[in-house]
Parts: sequence; C-alpha cells; structure tokens
Amino acid sequence: MTETVSGTAVTGPAGGWAVPENRADLPGRPDGTGGRCSGGGGKRHNSDVEWGDFDSCSYWRKNYSSLREDDREIIRIVGSFFRGCSPGPGDRRRSGVDVGAGTNMYPTLAMLPWTERVHLFDQSTGNVKWLRSEISDLGSSWRPFWSEFCATGYEPDDFGRVRAEVACRADVERRSVFDLPEGAFDIGTMFFVAESMTDDEEEFEAATEKFVRSLRPRSPFAAAFMDSSNGYFVGNAFFPAVHEVTRDKVQEVLTRLVARDGVRVHDIGIPSDAPLREGYEGMIVAVGRIGGKPDP
Ligand SMILES: C[S@@+](CC[C@H](N)C(=O)[O-])C[C@H]1O[C@@H](n2cnc3c(N)ncnc32)[C@H](O)[C@@H]1O
Repeated sequence: MTETVSGTAVTGPAGGWAVPENRADLPGRPDGTGGRCSGGGGKRHNSDVEWGDFDSCSYWRKNYSSLREDDREIIRIVGSFFRGCSPGPGDRRRSGVDVGAGTNMYPTLAMLPWTERVHLFDQSTGNVKWLRSEISDLGSSWRPFWSEFCATGYEPDDFGRVRAEVACRADVERRSVFDLPEGAFDIGTMFFVAESMTDDEEEFEAATEKFVRSLRPRSPFAAAFMDSSNGYFVGNAFFPAVHEVTRDKVQEVLTRLVARDGVRVHDIGIPSDAPLREGYEGMIVAVGRIGGKPDP
C-alpha cells in the first residue's frame, strides 16, 4: 500500500573526493572540493566517516531547538500509527529501539507510552554523551513535540511526568546499526540514519535491513529518510548521504524487507518558508509492521 502525502554526496577517485557538477555550490565547503576527507577514492562508507566530529549541540540547535513543520507532519503520521498499534492502556510492549538517535528525542517520545524500555543507540561518542545527559533531564524544547503527539491521541501527561518517564525508561548505548541483535525489539524507529551515514546505496540497504531484522514479527516501526540528499554539514564537518534514496527507493527496499503491502510511505514536502538547507528534495517517512499489514 502506498500513500503520497504531499544536491551533495562526497565521492571520488584517487585525485580526491569529487563533487558531482550540480552539487558544487554548497555553502561553507571547507576544502573547496566538496568533502571533509580529501584524498582517497571511491565511495565514502560509514566506517570512513569520523563520527566523533559530529557536533551534537550544533545539530540539535539547527534541527530540534524548535518544532519544524516537516517534523510536525512526521509526528502526526508516526503518532497516529503507533497509537493505532498499541496493545491497550497499561499493556506496554517490552522494548523499543531508536537506532542512530543523534540528538533527536521525538522518536523516543513516539515510543514512550507503548514500551517498558526504550534503547537509544548511536555510533558517535559525542551523541551518546549528549543523549545520556538529555534523558536524565529532558529539555523543555521537547514540550511542543510532545504536545503534537498528544494531538494524535497520546494521553496528555503533563510534561514533568514525561520527563520522569524518559529518565527511568530510556537508556543509551554506543552501538552501530550493523551490530544490532536480531529479533530483539517490539517497536522501533530509525530517523535519518541509513541514508545519512554513507554515500553507498548498498550500505543504506544493509543498514535498513539490520534495523528491520532487529524487530520481532508484528512489531510496528517508523523510519524517516532525507529525499535525494547531497550530504550535510554539522558545524564545520561534512557528512555523506545516499543521493539515490527517494520515496520509490524506500518503498522498494522496505516492501522487500517487511512484507508485501506491509508498509506505507509518505512524502513530506519542504516547508516553503523554512527549508532545512540546500541539497535535498524533502523528507520521507515510512510506517509499517514487520511481516504484515500496517493495520491502523
Ligand atoms: C543525520 S543524523 C540523524 C540523527 C537523528 N536520528 C535524527 O533524527 O536527527 C545520523 C546519525 O546516525 C549516527 N550513525 C552514523 N553511523 C551509525 C552507525 N553505524 N550506527 C548507528 N548510528 C550511526 C550518527 O552518529 C548520527 O547521530
């Protein structure tokens, strides 16, 4: 089932990381060639990237210090879907996982009412440190994000209670998507990770597969992706993305991994007055259930 709701990778041969023609105009490119890693050849794989250079505060400030319209749209889709999948009041799933959590707490908020524990994984030591601090005292910037979940039917706990729940139900671990255990979690999210950690399409597919396989049969999940991203700066460091990831690509990969008609893929348009940056075509969010119809 499909619903439609609404450039600058850094690769190159031995002479350096080349910038495809239409992608050469990114602002602030540090070395004039399009990449933080000058030299070297071929694709920039996940293990080629220095994730320690990911500036957590800068990323949070740019993306999550206030609620953007595109995130509001994603929350409405994911919130309605997870609420519809919920077993019932007081009957929580055992464990949820947010893969590559970065500095985004709203996937955790999306799962919080429906799980005993939410495990947050990330590869970057800086993000792990940031997340540990954040779960111990959830910042009030997340209040409007929570209100948006309440607008989809989440029980409107006061924010102080949500803060206390995050502190006692969430935990953080440095772990790669490629080291996820199989069939371990009952609900899962992975937002802007598989396509934003490499510029290799095969690695995007492998990471998506690892995420899907980490969930038990019938588990609901939500995954978000940047559409046709050319890569992105966080502070002064440039990170790769898989430009080939589009709505059709997400639909194809998830349909193969999850089940025929087991996933719904939505386009999230770029807010005309507030694009996040240059070099992407919008966002994509997919919701579904492992091995079956996404039934709410
Ligand atoms: C574009 S950020 C997305 C962060 C966050 N999920 C969000 O919604 O904004 C990509 C994240 O993937 C993490 N990451 C990169 N490689 C990873 C890997 N192999 N396993 C897990 N996380 C990884 C990065 O540290 C970073 O936090």
